[in-house]
Amino acid sequence: KLADLKGLKSGRFRLGVITTAKYFAPELLGGFCEVFPGIDVSLKVTNRTRIIERMAANDDDLYIFGEPTHAGLDVEATYLAPNPLVILARKDHPLVGQSGISLERLAEERFILREPGSGIRDAIARRFTERGIRPNVRMELGSNEAIKHAIIAGLGISALSLHTLTLDGGAGRLAMLDVEGFPIERAWYLVHPKGRDLSTIAKTFLAYAVDREGEIRAKLAHTDAQLRACRST
Ligand code: PGA
Repeated sequence: KLADLKGLKSGRFRLGVITTAKYFAPELLGGFCEVFPGIDVSLKVTNRTRIIERMAANDDDLYIFGEPTHAGLDVEATYLAPNPLVILARKDHPLVGQSGISLERLAEERFILREPGSGIRDAIARRFTERGIRPNVRMELGSNEAIKHAIIAGLGISALSLHTLTLDGGAGRLAMLDVEGFPIERAWYLVHPKGRDLSTIAKTFLAYAVDREGEIRAKLAHTDAQLRACRST
C-alpha cells in the first residue's frame, strides 16, 4: 500500500528479544533493512524477565519471546517460529548415543543452569518439578554461549534452545541427548501490549517476520539433523 510505504521511507524501529532469538533476529532485521533502507533499527537482547520489564516500560516497539500469556500479561501475540529446548552434552559423554534416557538418570549428571529470570531456566525447572525430580545443579551461567563453552570444557550437561547452535553447531563438539520429555517444544511469538497501537513500521516488520517462518524452520531442521548425526557416531 502506497500510504504505508511513504511512512516507511525513514523512521526508527526498536526490537527487544529474549536471548535465544538473538540467533535469528539480526538476519530478520538485516533482510528488513534491505527492503526499507531508510529505517534505523535497534536490537535489545536480554532474558525473559528483563524483556517483560522492558515491555511494561514501553522501551521498544515490538518483542520476541515465548509463552506470552504465561505471566498473566495482557498482550497481542503472533506466532513466529518453533523454539525447541534440547539437552546437550559433550560429544564424548557416555550418555551420547543412548536412547530414551530417563529424567532420573539425567539428574545424576552435573547440570549447568541459566540465571534466575531466564525462560529456559524456568522451563527446565518445571519439567523436573512435575516429576518430583531435582536436577544436580552445579553451576549457573548467565549466557547461552558460556554454557556451550562449559559443556565443551567438561563441566556438565545443559539444556539449550536448538537456535543457539544454528551458526556453528558447537563445531561438532556437542551432541543432543535423547531424554524422555525432550525436546521441550516451545515457540517464539511477536508480542506487544494489548491496546497499544503498533507503528506502521512495526506492523510492516511483523508481517515481514511472519513470512520468514519457513526459513527459520529450515535452519532448525538442518541443525537438528547435524546434532543427531553426532549422537550416532
Ligand atoms: P531466556 O529465554 O533467555 O530468558 O532463557 C530464552 C527462551 O525463552 O527461549
